[in-house]
Amino acid sequence: MNKKLDKFYSENAYTRIFSKYFTKKEFRSYKSYFLKEKKKYFNHLKFNNKSIVLDVGTGRQSVALSTIFSRIDHFDISKKHVLQLKKFTKKKKILNIFSKRVDLELYKLEKNRYDFINLDGILMHTSNPFLLLKNVLNSLKKNGIVKILIYKSGSLKFIIISFLRKLIYENKLKLPNKFKNIITRMLFEDDLYVPNIHFFDENSLYKFLKKMTSSSKFLKTKNFNYKKKIDTKNFHHSLTFIVTKKNDNLRFEKNTKLKYVNQLNKNFLKKDKFFYDNIGKRFLHILEKIKKSRIPKFKIKEIEFTIIRIYKIALHSLFYKELNYKNLISILKVELYNLEQLLINKRYD
Ligand SMILES: C[S@@+](CC[C@H](N)C(=O)[O-])C[C@H]1O[C@@H](n2cnc3c(N)ncnc32)[C@H](O)[C@@H]1O
Repeated sequence: MNKKLDKFYSENAYTRIFSKYFTKKEFRSYKSYFLKEKKKYFNHLKFNNKSIVLDVGTGRQSVALSTIFSRIDHFDISKKHVLQLKKFTKKKKILNIFSKRVDLELYKLEKNRYDFINLDGILMHTSNPFLLLKNVLNSLKKNGIVKILIYKSGSLKFIIISFLRKLIYENKLKLPNKFKNIITRMLFEDDLYVPNIHFFDENSLYKFLKKMTSSSKFLKTKNFNYKKKIDTKNFHHSLTFIVTKKNDNLRFEKNTKLKYVNQLNKNFLKKDKFFYDNIGKRFLHILEKIKKSRIPKFKIKEIEFTIIRIYKIALHSLFYKELNYKNLISILKVELYNLEQLLINKRYD
């Protein structure tokens, strides 16, 4: 059992917003989203009163799906998520959700059991995504469907977040969470402090998943772009694969690893020239600087506030709806200029 993951997910982020997420309104909204997505991407999935689902996470999606499917097996590494869900289903007399605390990298799931597997925002957060994926794919029935939603490599939001995480990590900063809105408070903790965020090499993940199917007709994607690796102007921050398992004899090479992409690699960033010239090279310059000398203590407060302002640019769809891409880059550039100034130890400071 990965203690670090359990600790994070039992003490931080999602546990705080339980009351906000476990509401009728939220369940209804997720159910209608699921049905719309199904119609568009996997309408061939026929469910009946025997269909079984595997879901991972807080359990809120399990509750929404429990009104469609006959049985939901919910698994999560967080003791708290499982306890909260059990308490909720008992109180609401929901009888078709079965929740268990397990590490899905290690737990032996029953083979060929599930009609639908929901991995919504899971794979990039586990320590060894290949182990988790292998395990859950083996538990999917032939003709069953898995939905995998991950963070998108090469998107503006996650390049900024990767930069901030590195800055925070290198300086062991414990940022004050100044946000009043509880969703923003949760996002802030989750994005900046969650133990793992892996960014996958999407073409190789696509190829890996294709092995499960007989033709690309059974591998649907949302926001996938096989030609471009980075596009900070146009990429959405999430990517979804929806795969129908046609091959029920999956063979995985023992040493397979899913390839990751370092969002702060110079050659990677250079592929988005405008972004690199304005932002990317400043990110690298700042990280290089703090590697050589830590941030002086008396500047930490100011730096923390700068980080919070930069984080708001990463969440531009919440905080800067009215700004276009060029304007966002301009304000980000100003913040990075401030950060650089703060890092220069001038004598008259
Ligand atoms: C970002 S949250 C997913 C949120 C989900 N979309 C929801 O709304 O409930 C990631 C979840 O993955 C779980 N997780 C990460 N690694 C895991 C593992 N190895 N085994 C089981 N659960 C894991 C965490 O405990 C957490 O609940």
